[in-house]
Amino acid sequence: MPKVTYIAADGTETTLEVPVGTSVMEAAIMNNVDGILGECGGSINCATCHVFVQNADQFTLPEMSPVEEEMLEATAVERQPESRLSCQLIMTAAMDGLIVRLPEAQY
Ligand code: FES
Repeated sequence: MPKVTYIAADGTETTLEVPVGTSVMEAAIMNNVDGILGECGGSINCATCHVFVQNADQFTLPEMSPVEEEMLEATAVERQPESRLSCQLIMTAAMDGLIVRLPEAQY
């Protein structure tokens, strides 16, 4: 199963095995990873699943939709070039080793 490492704002690292087809947000919620809220359940309507992808250059990530692009303008912590909404990062086998850093706040 592909793995994702979540790095909390305080530096705590959690690595999870995430089933293919599950979003990076859903895996965090199911495993009680602090720092991702996912309040809208993944319908691109809350921006509380904001993450900073640390090694995006190693993967072909799902393309960003115009709605995700727009929601990233409403994050609690300012958007960075590596910002994504983790509910839109649906795991594939090829995304094994993904590393996401979590912002200090989601709202
Ligand atoms: S969970 Fe709401 S935008 Fe991702």
